[in-house]
This record gives sequence, structure tokens and C-alpha cells, in this order.
Amino acid sequence: MLHLTSVDLKRQKIKALFIPVCEDKRIHAEPVVAALVDQALAIGEFKGKKDQEITLYRPPGCVAERVVFRGLGKAESLDAEALRRAAGRSVKRCIQLGLPRMWLAAPDPAAASIEETDILRAMMEGAFLGNHVFDRYKQEKETKPLARAYLVVPAASAARHRRLAADVQTVCGGTLMAREWVNLPSNDKPPLELAALIAREAKAHGLAVEVLSEKDLQRKKMGAMLAVAAGSSNRPAMVILRHKGGDRRPPVVLVGKGVTFDSGGINIKTGDSLPDMKGDMAGGAAVAAALIVAARLKLKRHLIGVIPLVENMVSGRSTRPGDIVTTFTGKTVEIGNTDAEGRLILIDAMAYAEWRFKPEVMIDLATLTGACVVALGERIAGVFAKDEALQAAIVAAGRRTHERCWPMPLPGDYKELLKSSYADINNMPNTRYGGAVTAALFLSEFVGTARWAHIDIAGPGFHKKEDAYCGPGGTGFGVRLLMDWLTSRT
Ligand code: BES
Ligand code: ZN
Ligand code: ZN
Repeated sequence: MLHLTSVDLKRQKIKALFIPVCEDKRIHAEPVVAALVDQALAIGEFKGKKDQEITLYRPPGCVAERVVFRGLGKAESLDAEALRRAAGRSVKRCIQLGLPRMWLAAPDPAAASIEETDILRAMMEGAFLGNHVFDRYKQEKETKPLARAYLVVPAASAARHRRLAADVQTVCGGTLMAREWVNLPSNDKPPLELAALIAREAKAHGLAVEVLSEKDLQRKKMGAMLAVAAGSSNRPAMVILRHKGGDRRPPVVLVGKGVTFDSGGINIKTGDSLPDMKGDMAGGAAVAAALIVAARLKLKRHLIGVIPLVENMVSGRSTRPGDIVTTFTGKTVEIGNTDAEGRLILIDAMAYAEWRFKPEVMIDLATLTGACVVALGERIAGVFAKDEALQAAIVAAGRRTHERCWPMPLPGDYKELLKSSYADINNMPNTRYGGAVTAALFLSEFVGTARWAHIDIAGPGFHKKEDAYCGPGGTGFGVRLLMDWLTSRT
């Protein structure tokens, strides 16, 4: 879908050319584009203010049928994310117009004060991600994604970045895969079905796949995960994906929360948060997609993905508040609240993964707590890790990809808050404050010596409303983040 091209705009017949424009600085060096920007600004009503748009039909100076100018606001606030968003919005506009192809003018790196690679990568990401339409359940397909998006650059930059378009498509293809899984309604992704969907994609891309059944989980004594699964008539599963990178180091293990629907269980949820709970497997979706991207990129690093899949439901078989279970590690947990189910499936998945794979690094992604959304809002994930270098590397990857992460604490003295009168630990803290922190501390009690980080994506994993380069629903958050982290390390 993505192409980097240099075209002669005076000759090339195109239906729609999109040009991002700053209000206080000329950022295009290409003479035809620069002249078009002058024309647009000369009209007076378009100033290049943020999100402003104007269309000129058959303007003199080129042979485009229409040129759409999109305001970026002030140059000092121009960054890769502003370009990613502008590209996403432009694609969505083009889709609305019903056109199958678009041309998008890339600004000049010197004028925009952004590295060339960062400009091109961001604009291609925005265009590719903005081109995703989830209409599987609509009889009438109202909108059709673009077949092609051309990023217009000088010939030399097209030559310098020959592999970039394919790379961006592979990584962002993972983001779309995760979005598709998250957007599926829970009736079409009970654990075993979702496991099969993931397994099929994973096998097709050369990953080794294992799916543990409920019997396997019983044999392995994963009492915490089984307690969450108990109330549902849909059986649980654990998907294990392996990418053999060829290196001899201990693997990186990624673990993703896969609750295909979180009703809360006996501590049932109320209000309008319930429909969003089909997205409670966003961490699992991101991990599965990241493994598939790693395989497609032939990443050198040995990588393992572990995705515990369960449905948290209410029935006569449901686990009760106050029940005590024995986890994979042998530690007992009092289930003070059945809605704190994510941590229960994660501790068994992580303890099992650490015991079996002896990872060098283990990272879990989970839509774990509403408290994390209260703390950081809907667009920033919380990163918890004792290892500050690992935490900083994840935050840095978040900055580069704009899948933003913020460092959060793991204060040892707060473990007091998870004391149980009857079992080794309670999954419910005895305070309503600091819920994201106490959840992370609960997880930490089940991690051994591996360098471990926990990323709470309850906010950024799922958005009700659409945005510049994402539709409503699953965002695919975590795939670009993990891939950036994995590929930027030495
Ligand atoms: N899946 C939820 C967390 C969540 C909330 C995700 C909002 C996305 C948006 C999780 O299983 C949950 O219910 N957590 C409880 C924990 C509490 C009972 C200790 C919460 O956050 O209220
Ligand atoms: Zn819950
Ligand atoms: Zn949950």
C-alpha cells in the first residue's frame, strides 16, 4: 500500500495531492509544492492553523485534479507525531472522497527540523494505520480503504530509504492485526477460538505454536488462571509462540493479558464500562502480533510470547470472593475481588514462562487497572520495573513511537496493602488508592530473577472514539512499542 516516490507534479496526472502546511514557516522545498502552498495561503482563509483544511481544484502549476492542504499549526510544535497524525487524517479524507489512491507531499527535513527518516517513517505509519477500516460486521461497506498511498519525496531520499515502506508495513501490519482481534466481539473470540485465530496467523508466518488446553493447565497446577476461567462455559487456553532468532542468549519473553471478556465475575461490573471489556485481551493481541512481526522481520533475537486466554464470567461455577487458590508457584492467593482477574492469569503465565524458558527479560502487557487510567489518562501507559535501565528503554521506545509510557514506582512497603488474613497474599488491596501500583506489586511477588517490566495499557489499549490514525475500538498499542524496543537494543 505504501510507496516512496519522486514524481514530476507538472506531468503526473493524479486525483488528489495532500500537502501538510505550517502556519508560520515554509516547510516544503519542492518548487511545485512550494508554489501550491503559496497559492493556498494567498486566498487568505487558509492559514495553516492546526487541523485547518482547504481544497483547490485543478490549481495552476500542476496537473492534480485536487490539492488538499492540511494545517499543522506552528512550526515549533511540529514533530513526528504531528506528521503521523496529518498523514492519518489525509488518508481518512481521501477514503471519504472515495478515491483509491493518494499522493502526500513530505516536508523538507532541514526546513521542518526533523530527521529525514523520522519524517518518512512517521508519515508512512500515519497513512498506513489511518487506512484501517473495521467493517467486518457491516453488511454495507460504507468506506473502502485506499489501495495505494504515495509519499512524494526527492529522488535521492526515495533511493536512500528503499526498504522503509516495506518495514513500516510489516510493523504496522502487526498493529492492524492486533486491532482486528481486539475489535472482534467477545461472542466471536472465546478463548479457544481466539487461540485458533492466533495460532493460524502465527503458523502462517513460521512461528512454533503450542496451545495449552484446560487439562494442560490443570496438570501444570495453574490454579489462579483456572479460577478465573471457572465461571465461563468457554474453556481457557494458553498460547505459546516461539520465534527462534538464532542467537544463543536466553530468550525475551513477552506475556499478554488475554481476557476475552471481563464481566468482573461475581464482583460484577456496572455501567457503561462493560461493552469495552471485549478489549481486555489487548495485551495478548499486541504480544501475538509482535511475535508475528518479529518472524516476518526475521529478527535475530530469540523471542517467546505467552498469552493466557480466559473469559471472566458469572455463573454457578464462578469463583467466589473469599475463595483461596494455589498458584503455579505454590503460593496461595485469596481472591478478594473476582474483577481483579488479570493479575491472576498473569501470575500463572509469568511464573510458568520464567520457570520453563529462563528468560533474560520478561515484559508483560495488560489492560490491568482502571486506576492506571485515572493516574495517566487514556493515552499513556504505566511502566513498572525494578530494573531502571529496562524501564527507561521502554519509555524511550514509547517516545519514538508515540506509544507513550510513563515510569511508575514499585514501593516495597506498599506490599503491606496486599496482606491476606488467610492466604499468602490477597489479589485485592485493602485500600482504594494507588490501584495501578498495588496491581504491579502483586505481579512482582510472582516474578523470580528475570529482568521484568509490566506495562499497564488499560488506557491506551482501547479507545471508544476514533482518532487521527485509528478507528474506534482497539488501538493495537504495544506492537510498535515492543518492536522499537526489540530492534533498537544492542
Ligand atoms: N479489565 C479491568 C481493568 C480495566 C479498566 C481495563 C478500564 C480497561 C479499562 C480489570 O480486570 C479490572 O477490573 N480491574 C479492577 C481491579 C480492582 C478490582 C482491584 C479495577 O481496575 O477496578
Ligand atoms: Zn476485571
Ligand atoms: Zn480485566
